[in-house]
Amino acid sequence: MTLQNGLAIAAVSKAFPPGNEWYINRSMNRRSFLRASACASVALAAGARTAFAADAMIDITAHEAGPQISPNLYGQFIEHLGGVIYDGIWVGRDSKISNIDGIRKQFLDDMKRIAVPNFRWPGGCFADGYHWRDGLGEPSKRPRTYNYWQATMPAGYDATETNQFGIHEFMHLCRLTGAEPYLAANMGSGSPREFHDWVQYCNAPVGTVSLASERAANGDKDPFGVRWWGVGNESWGCGGDMNPQEYATLYRRFVTQFPAYDPKPSLVAVGPRGHSKDLDLGWTNGFFEAMEGHHSKIDGLSVHFYTDFRNSAEKVSTFDARGWYDVLREGARMETVIEQHWATMAKYDPQHHTKLVVDEWGVWYPKGEEIAPGYLLSQPLTLRDAMHTAVTLDIFNRHADKLAMANVAQTINCLHSLFLAQGDRFARTPVYYIFEMYRDHMGSRLAKMNIQSQEPMVPSRAGSATMPGLSGSASIRDKQLTVTISNPSLDSSVTARLRLTNGAITEGKGSVLTHTEMTASNTLDHPNEVVLASFPVNIRSSQVEFSIPRHAVVSLELKMA
Ligand code: AHR
Repeated sequence: MTLQNGLAIAAVSKAFPPGNEWYINRSMNRRSFLRASACASVALAAGARTAFAADAMIDITAHEAGPQISPNLYGQFIEHLGGVIYDGIWVGRDSKISNIDGIRKQFLDDMKRIAVPNFRWPGGCFADGYHWRDGLGEPSKRPRTYNYWQATMPAGYDATETNQFGIHEFMHLCRLTGAEPYLAANMGSGSPREFHDWVQYCNAPVGTVSLASERAANGDKDPFGVRWWGVGNESWGCGGDMNPQEYATLYRRFVTQFPAYDPKPSLVAVGPRGHSKDLDLGWTNGFFEAMEGHHSKIDGLSVHFYTDFRNSAEKVSTFDARGWYDVLREGARMETVIEQHWATMAKYDPQHHTKLVVDEWGVWYPKGEEIAPGYLLSQPLTLRDAMHTAVTLDIFNRHADKLAMANVAQTINCLHSLFLAQGDRFARTPVYYIFEMYRDHMGSRLAKMNIQSQEPMVPSRAGSATMPGLSGSASIRDKQLTVTISNPSLDSSVTARLRLTNGAITEGKGSVLTHTEMTASNTLDHPNEVVLASFPVNIRSSQVEFSIPRHAVVSLELKMA
């Protein structure tokens, strides 16, 4: 095997990923692949005018019986951290920056454009020190309080919490964008009582408890109807430094007397640190073991998975081929994390009453490239991170039967952000465009997809490694098929032929996200460097032929007969 331009073809054939019947990526060497695809095209595309030498064959079986891809898999996470809430989202009612009731208008518009399904708030680590009452009432009278992230701020920058953005402002954001709220309760410095009071304040109808009258007096007569409740955050770390047994005991105390107002709650327990080397299966085992014989319901198990390069020399904005592939390969471990924790949960909950909630995910690079001092954890993301997003969202789609929700960390001015904003400057990162391209998957039914493509050998920290040539997912709704595919290769475009095993395609169009430079990025000074372009598809004898450029993500909208 030779390695040219950082890429070679591995002559191994391997199914990827194992155990997922909705998606098979069969890899083979180039010669046997071309032979197979030529035979297939003669047999299946009788009538095709000219031969189209495809590098990849994509077979899709689409019917309405696949699992539904919950829109909630495209969820967002926003925390009182650096420039996420203040400046990113909340600019204030008197701001010169275009806003609606204090919320940045451009943010609202773009959130609606991608049909944001939910926001997780107020943290993160911040949540375990947050007292919801501090964010009520006349804004100028709200207290200034300690923020967990204060200690991490650069010298001279204050991160005292002003509490200008409280539960009413948050709910207003949700209403303006059509998103569902997902609240994280304070288990660190809070109590079951404080949690239950918050539930009553949010959900009790006026005329029942005094907390409902207080909510009405603060401007919201109608209950907020919060369904999603996170019971703590990272209780193995900033949320209390507990072991799973300690957390299980506390979880039961927090949920046993959960106030019974509509809607029926979805309670999410703290789960593993998925980016640990051992995937932290010990947490999942320990927690479920400790819950055995108890009756507290657990609707979701939170998993955090960061593509964690904090302790490396990797840079956000400048990298080589090795850095490109290392980040993408590490990100693709999300699939193993989901599968392994799901299998572990099956030991205790064979019917899978508890679903997975990946409520923090994204790439985390070392400090040093923040967009401005005080904008903690902000990163000038590139095309590499957009590709990582595509690979991750395809993984979520393919595991739609296991996942109830996922939340990218975090939406603006933070780790894996869709936007950067500072004052009146605003940029959509390349990551944003992937959410736009994938929007039609939300609420559709997963279709079976079989990709046969080469499995390239790529440079890596360890010398070299293999990775899938193409990855993707497909879904169907009302005879519209949505197909998303990414080609991570820095060297080669991939020609592909896509066919339906159970029908014909009559029309199609597509969009593509790529750039000549793998390090391309949208900055506050140059916000439109990486943008979507239309993508040509060729429909021939009910099959679709196209060529995916190198380091590109494509999204196809296909009409079935
Ligand atoms: O997203 C940043 C932080 O990462 C969150 O506050 C915490 O939950 C996680 O460790």
